[in-house]
Amino acid sequence: MNTSETPAFTETELKLLQTLVYQECGMHFDERRTPFLQDRLQRRLKECQLDSFYSYYRLLISQPGKQELSCLLENLTVNETSFFRNKAQLDLFQRDVMEDILRRKQECRDFSLRIWSAGCSTGQEPYTLAMLVADALSYYYLRTALSTEARVPKPLIPGPWRVEILASDINYSVLRTAQQASYSEHQMTGVDYGYRLRYFDKVGERYAVKKGVQELVHFDFHNLKTEYLPQRNDIIFCRNVMMYFDEAEQKRLVEKFYRCLNPQGYMFVGHAESLLGLTEKFQMVHHNSGTAYQRVEVRM
Ligand SMILES: C[S@@+](CC[C@H](N)C(=O)[O-])C[C@H]1O[C@@H](n2cnc3c(N)ncnc32)[C@H](O)[C@@H]1O
Repeated sequence: MNTSETPAFTETELKLLQTLVYQECGMHFDERRTPFLQDRLQRRLKECQLDSFYSYYRLLISQPGKQELSCLLENLTVNETSFFRNKAQLDLFQRDVMEDILRRKQECRDFSLRIWSAGCSTGQEPYTLAMLVADALSYYYLRTALSTEARVPKPLIPGPWRVEILASDINYSVLRTAQQASYSEHQMTGVDYGYRLRYFDKVGERYAVKKGVQELVHFDFHNLKTEYLPQRNDIIFCRNVMMYFDEAEQKRLVEKFYRCLNPQGYMFVGHAESLLGLTEKFQMVHHNSGTAYQRVEVRM
């Protein structure tokens, strides 16, 4: 069947499929994005060799259609990302937020740090965070010696700190790419030479993230639409994900993120996103055009 033979949608079929996608992953297709949804649905229908959207819908809601449903969702996600995206925000993260968390944690002798990159796409965001955390801890360590023991070679994360960066996505294909940790010259735009030298190995034409950095990041599948999300995070990055959800879904997600954070934990959203109007449970932290949100604690 060629494209011209692909059947057109009825309004009802489109609504059914739109609702199903929304229920499964929270993605909302407004008028502006409906042509994109239609195009992707048409491609999948052709791939499945089905002759009506209603039969495609029946397939998606059936048990054997689970795999096709996850394939459709993968085709609907926008995976654009880059290293060091939104520099002003990352400066705020590295200087102010890390400093505050490390100081508070050290006071109660808790040396573990847990960061979650929710909607990590092909890995540039969590690897950027790993590099920034390694640098922030080295700098912190220079000023706040924790042990007299001089270790050679110097570890990436100075003891007794333990850093865990969880990176998750709904798209298995981007998670596989992220785990390979290998990037083209084009994808390295925005990574300065200092970072390239310290944290990457040149392998042929590509740049491989060094093992030590890779070991700080753990990739996993998580659908942000579900209730069971990773708990006890000090910091959550969920950037350029919520913009594809409608307001009701954004509110539900922010409520879940609140519960997934440790007290006084921080949350980062994308440049075009904001928590204002969605919740009163976070307060905005702003510095040099970088923005973050800190969990507000209710005093008893
Ligand atoms: C535009 S990318 C953002 C990547 C990165 N956070 C950044 O800002 O550069 C959005 C990512 O969110 C993921 N995503 C969309 N809906 C999701 C959901 N319900 N659960 C988990 N991840 C989702 C997509 O698969 C995609 O990789």
